[in-house]
Order: sequence, then structure tokens, then C-alpha cells
Amino acid sequence: MANNSLRLAIAGLGTIGTGVVQVLQTHGDKLARQVGRPVEIRAVCDLDRDLDRGVDLSSYEWFGDALEMARSDKLDVFIEMMGGADGIALACVEAALAAGKHVVTANKAMLAKHGTRLAQLAEDHGVSLNFEAAVGGGIPVIKAMRESLVGNDVTRVYGIMNGTCNYILTRMQEEGRNFADVLKEAQELGFAEADPTFDIGGHDTAHKLAILTSLAFGTELAFDEIYLEGIENITIADIEAADRLGYRIKLLGVAQITDSGIEQRVHPTMVPKHTAIAEVAGVTNCIAVEGDFIDKIMLVGPGAGAGPTASAIVSDIVDIARGIQLPPLLTKASDLKPCKRAGMRRHEGGYYIRLQVRDHPGAIAAIASRMAEQEISLQSVVQKARGIRGSSGAQEGAPFAPVVLITHETTESAVRKALEAINSDGHVETGSQMIRIESL
Ligand code: HSE
Repeated sequence: MANNSLRLAIAGLGTIGTGVVQVLQTHGDKLARQVGRPVEIRAVCDLDRDLDRGVDLSSYEWFGDALEMARSDKLDVFIEMMGGADGIALACVEAALAAGKHVVTANKAMLAKHGTRLAQLAEDHGVSLNFEAAVGGGIPVIKAMRESLVGNDVTRVYGIMNGTCNYILTRMQEEGRNFADVLKEAQELGFAEADPTFDIGGHDTAHKLAILTSLAFGTELAFDEIYLEGIENITIADIEAADRLGYRIKLLGVAQITDSGIEQRVHPTMVPKHTAIAEVAGVTNCIAVEGDFIDKIMLVGPGAGAGPTASAIVSDIVDIARGIQLPPLLTKASDLKPCKRAGMRRHEGGYYIRLQVRDHPGAIAAIASRMAEQEISLQSVVQKARGIRGSSGAQEGAPFAPVVLITHETTESAVRKALEAINSDGHVETGSQMIRIESL
């Protein structure tokens, strides 16, 4: 073996870890020619040694203890594929960095929670912490933000960052199927997190957004500051109403500079049907970056899956083999600023509001009047034919009419105050819906 080999250790041989083995076994010779040195897996580690993974692992040293492997002086790069924000994954990454080893990981949850500290640790020890696969799977968005877009002040970064949610919303829209039905199918595709509430509750998107926000604005990672709403409450009624009004509903992560600070938000979002992001269907991800000189770029591609994710991980390994080493979060960790949060109530934009209005004289007028009190201008009001509420309770049998309002640009505070007043007036049933419209 050549003595200038880059010696790799892979901790975790699940779908993605095995995918990395496959890419390196397929393209190892080509990569060695391109970078001018062999790039070799030397050691692996997993809880299950006997499982047939469909790849030949016989020439690699097996470690029973990931931490021991992270500290081994026979290895140069520790590839963390175990997952989990804390626990063994974090302990190994800390140990590897402290031992002067480069680290490659796809662990967005760990980075979202500990990324600032880990970046500092990597810089202190003069090693790389690379995580291209942590956001957008095979989409090279980290490289784009860390390298290709540095000639810009980023003003907004947003996108579809969770394939499971986009798959569910796409199937609901195209096939008129309900949420629970499609969720099961999405899980069967194998893209969902081990706990799928991480997908549908928006946490996975928020982990990725926290990373992009730091890269975009030179701020410390601030996952806990992210406003979070998942897609659990999106109904077929909303998807159909959005369609009639010229919109699609997508789970977006958005980070943007505003006058009052940095907005970081993850929520179902209405996007005009004619925009490129509205067309992104199924498990595909799409990330847009807006900057003062670039205007806007959009990156679209597979956001999950063994092949695309392993492809991104190998690009991180190749950077290390070439000696390309950047501060993990682009700005030196010691120079990252605290992330000044812009409160969600100050968010400005259009809103979709769906109400179950009790069908009696004056109800719509009262609703319009509450909107006017908050200086909310309505772009459209659509009332569908009335129905009979069949649920139990005081309104059993009472007629109701679904009413959809679209507002012009206003503030979240105004919308929330208007909805509180409308609810207390007693003209609407519970179960009203409010979805933000993104200006694109
Ligand atoms: N659960 C994620 C998704 C996998 O559905 O997009 C990639 O992070």
C-alpha cells in the first residue's frame, strides 16, 4: 500500500455507510488517479458483524468499539455514519477531532445541536469537519455555499429539504389521498427517519435549515430558535383549495435576513404553481439561495437514499485527500455571531386562512370586519356550498360553510389577532387553518 494513502474508517454500516463502501469500491482507482493518492478504506465498525450487506468487507479491519477506532493512529479520516444527535456518534466525532483526524458525517441532528462547538474543535486541531450529505442528500449545497457563492451576501436561503414530506404532499395533491394513508407508503420507501415524526413534524428540515443559516449568515447554529410547524394538519381540503387558487403546498425551511433579525422558520407554505419549486415532486429536494450578486440559484436533486448520500460523502473525502480544508461553517468558529432571532409575529407575508363558518347572517361581514380592524387587506374570499357538521357537541347538525381567505401582505401578529377575535366572536368552528404564502 502506498504510504501517502488517505486511510479511512467507516463507523456504521447501515444503508448509507454501505453505500460509501460501494462508491469507493466502484470508483477507488479513478479517484486515486484524480487526487494523486490512494483513498482506501482501512477499518469499519458496526454492531452487526455477520449481516450480509452485499459488499466485500473482508480486507478491512473490524473494530468492535467505535471510540477505539476514532482514536486509532492508523487512520486519517473518521466517517461517522451512526446517527443520533448525541451519544456514541457525538463521542466518536469529538474523540476523532481531538485526536487530529478529519471527520466526515451526514449527521444533521448532531451538527444542528453541536455544530458550532464541533467546528471550533476541528479548527483547534487543524482538521476538516465535512458534512456535504447532511443537507439535501446528493445535492452539493454545502460546497455551493462554502465555496461557489462566497462572492455574495446571502439574503435568503430556502427549500424543500425533506423528501418524505414532499412525497406525502405530492401524493395527496396528485391522488387526493389522505395524510395517514400516504405516510405509511412514504415510510415503506425507506427515506423516512427512524422516527418519522422527525420528518412530518419538520424537525429534520429544521436540522438542515440550522446548518444552512449558519453558512449563509455567519452565525452560530441556533436550532432551538427555529419556528417549527409540520405537515400533520394539512388536509385534502387545503390542498384542493390551494390548487384552485393557483398554489401548491410545500414544507419549506426558510432563513432570511429581516430588519428585526434572522427569521428561521419551517412550516407548510403556499408557493405559486408557476414557480420552479412548486414543480418539485416526490422525494426530490430543492434548495434556493439568494444573494446580492447571484440573484438566485436553485439546486434540485435527490435528497436522500444510499447512492446520492454516499456520492456526497465521497466528495467530502476527496476534498480531504486533495488537502482542501476550510472552516467547517465557512466563517471561523470564533468569529461566528450569535443568531439574532426575528420573532415570528413580525413575519410579513400573505396568508391563506380556511375557516368553518357557521352559516348565519352577518358571519362573513363580522370576519371581514375583524380583518379590517387589523388593517389586513383581503385578496380573495371563496365560500363553498354549505354543509351539515356531523360531529358531536353543541353545533351538532348546525350548517357551516368552508370559507377560504387569501390576504395581501400583512404581519403574522395582525393575522393571529384577527383570528383570535374571529374565534371569540363565535362565528367559526374549531379546526381553522392558517398557511403562510411565500413571496418568491
Ligand atoms: N428523512 C430524510 C428525508 C432523509 O425524508 O428527506 C434525508 O435526510
